[in-house]
Amino acid sequence: MRNFDERSITAAVCERVAQASDPHARQISDALVRHLHDFVREIEPTQEEWSQAIAFLTRTGHMCDANRQEFILLSDALGVSMLVDALNHRLPGGATETTVLGPFYVQDPPELPLGANISPGLEGVPLLVTGAAAGSPLAGATVDVWHSDGDGYYDVQQLDDDHGLAMRARLRTAQNGAFHFWMIMPAAYPIPNDGPVGEMLAAQGRHPYRPAHVHFMIAAPAHEQLVTHVFVEGDAYLDSDVVFGVKDSLIRPFAEMSAGIAPDGAQIDQPYRHLHYDFVLAPQRHTA
Ligand code: BEZ
Ligand code: FE
Repeated sequence: MRNFDERSITAAVCERVAQASDPHARQISDALVRHLHDFVREIEPTQEEWSQAIAFLTRTGHMCDANRQEFILLSDALGVSMLVDALNHRLPGGATETTVLGPFYVQDPPELPLGANISPGLEGVPLLVTGAAAGSPLAGATVDVWHSDGDGYYDVQQLDDDHGLAMRARLRTAQNGAFHFWMIMPAAYPIPNDGPVGEMLAAQGRHPYRPAHVHFMIAAPAHEQLVTHVFVEGDAYLDSDVVFGVKDSLIRPFAEMSAGIAPDGAQIDQPYRHLHYDFVLAPQRHTA
């Protein structure tokens, strides 16, 4: 095998990777080589441009640490995360739709009782979130919630001696599947754009914003784990979310409420907002 040209090189590499004993590795390698070679043939990069592409990926890797995952951002901003999500969630009708996890989830967040304020001491308009997790009513389901502050930062982006985990919690649904908690109104925010993904967005003439949303991860035995958000109706970025995560079924009014007795019985002395969303988890597809 010698003397390859710009066409025959692809078949030669595919033939080589066809020797892999693992059929999955073989299939993935074959598709990778074919699509990558086609991409390069279409673009016809100069040597300098190819070096720049490799430098871009190198900078992306160097940007990653325990609190910053630039490769996830890249996957999100190119729509790949939502594509993988769609391929993996061909759910039965009635189940709540999924959307992107994003880079700011923390495993095993602090557990708080139903009714807790998960963002105490933060400035903003109070928001009461009520809802239920159903398959049949799911008692004791874990409901992980997280959101950014009014400036668009998540706690994990500013952890230091003065700032610990905040604006996130794990709640457990009551006997009837219901849950409720307080937070502050989320705001639209830019995804981190001071790195290679920001450079890419600028080159593509795109803004870096996500519409305001609250993240949920809900898990219960014998059900598919649900990873989703609820978006604020009327947000200016619903049609241009930088990570392509918006679905109509996930948009809700965050109703304006006057001071008084809130639906959870709390006495609130200022105007606040109320979001209600009932989540439906799909039955588990594969049991271990
Ligand atoms: C988020 O909503 O937290 C998020 C999702 C994708 C990229 C960046 C942030
Ligand atoms: Fe978010």
